[in-house]
Amino acid sequence: MRSLSLIALILLLFSCAPKSSNDENTLAQISDPEVLKFAIPGKALYENYCGNCHQSDGKGLGKLIPPLRDSDYFKASVHRTVWIIRHGQQGEITVNGEKYNQAMPANPNLKPLEIAQITTYVYNIWGMNEGVITSSAIENYLKNKPENY
Ligand code: HEC
Repeated sequence: MRSLSLIALILLLFSCAPKSSNDENTLAQISDPEVLKFAIPGKALYENYCGNCHQSDGKGLGKLIPPLRDSDYFKASVHRTVWIIRHGQQGEITVNGEKYNQAMPANPNLKPLEIAQITTYVYNIWGMNEGVITSSAIENYLKNKPENY
């Protein structure tokens, strides 16, 4: 009996522990079930392929990695973001008035569906509401290099 109540106490303490900002429940910001179908795998892919650099909360890393969250550069063009995911990005760019100049690696192995899931996720959280970005839209975006790349 004693050990049971000890376990209950431990569970209670854990459930009351304050959450860090990295535990923000981004998927709870999405209500459209069609968007969620893409965004749920998209979140896992984002954590694997993007989160180490751009961070789970999308705020980037100081002067080295630009933010995606509240980024004017990111918001300006879904097409360019799709291109950057596939082909990488290098050279100086200005994001929210700050200059960045580090190389982001390409992702030649990500399939159009996976890029669709990642972009649907990141464009429907942090106050954005772009809806589903389909894999056929991704295939179209990948046919032509965007002018602003
Ligand atoms: C190894 C670190 C790294 C990884 C992983 C990475 N990026 Fe980047 N990303 C960068 C850097 C560095 C830049 C800035 C490149 C420059 O200075 O030209 C950048 C730039 C960008 C930009 C344009 C600038 C902005 O912040 O709006 C977008 C959009 C972007 N990345 C999205 C992604 C997405 C989506 C993924 C996952 C598929 C990803 N990145 C993975 C490092 C990374």
